[in-house]
Amino acid sequence: MTETTGEDADGTRIIDGEAVAADVRDEVAARVETLEAEGVTPGLATVLMSDDPASETYVSMKQRDCEEVGIESVHVEIDADAPAEELYGTIDDLNEREDVHGVLVQLPLPDHVDKRRVLRRIVPEKDVDGFHPENVGRLVAGDARFKPCTPHGVQKLLAAYDVETEGADAVVVGRSDIVGKPMANLLVQKGPVGNATTTVCHSRTEDLEETLSTADIVIAAVGVPEFIDGSMLKEGATVIDVGINRVDADTEKGYELVGDVEYESAKGVAGAITPVPGGVGPMTRAMLLYNTVKAAGLQRGVDLDLS
Ligand code: GUN
Repeated sequence: MTETTGEDADGTRIIDGEAVAADVRDEVAARVETLEAEGVTPGLATVLMSDDPASETYVSMKQRDCEEVGIESVHVEIDADAPAEELYGTIDDLNEREDVHGVLVQLPLPDHVDKRRVLRRIVPEKDVDGFHPENVGRLVAGDARFKPCTPHGVQKLLAAYDVETEGADAVVVGRSDIVGKPMANLLVQKGPVGNATTTVCHSRTEDLEETLSTADIVIAAVGVPEFIDGSMLKEGATVIDVGINRVDADTEKGYELVGDVEYESAKGVAGAITPVPGGVGPMTRAMLLYNTVKAAGLQRGVDLDLS
């Protein structure tokens, strides 16, 4: 298991997402073997309808991750200018395929494509993102089939580092469908890595600093580089930085990745913090693999006993 006691010089624990994600991948690889023994190879289809270089990178990383744990990956690229019907047709085909257990359409989509219609088109049993309204409803009802990958990954990190959520004041900054809303829903629920007094802040929140100043747990998911700094945090808070922002920099690629939290000033104030990169990002990817094997198990009636 991952060693989770490392502290840096400021006394802040650095939450190692790479290490926890490696544990999740090991668990997934073992479940892939169980499925293989039953004659099933789990399969994930990724669909990219975008010219955005970041989206292209994310999708190719997902394919590579699949290969590492023995999941078959199928990839479909659709021209960003193509009619939406082409995407619907692709989803219909993937819904039908027996060798495909999970279908992921990379977001964001071009403006002429209605995201909600797309997400409803994927059959809920293959919706490994957990974005179909049926799966959103199940999550809110406390009966999740697929937890969305990023908030699920955050829960796993909090569990791995024994961060007490029960009775804690948790503040989620950001209200996106992908992270903020499901994250808040999970933290407030009864059960493990739940039972938190949960507040959601967003662009219309009047006094973010006041709210953050008493937060035991901060989940930063606004997509604004270094939006939160150390002066805004309570001493000893656990800080989970979901942001992965590309900012111009004098590097080979011409950019560097920074989070939604100003890491240097937050370190030393926070009790624990996730770095960017190497914090939440690897967990999001690992939880997609987890959901894919879960989907394959559910579809084939194999009990995978996933934690
Ligand atoms: N774009 C950014 N994050 C995600 C995600 O979790 N799932 C999908 N499908 N697209 C994304």
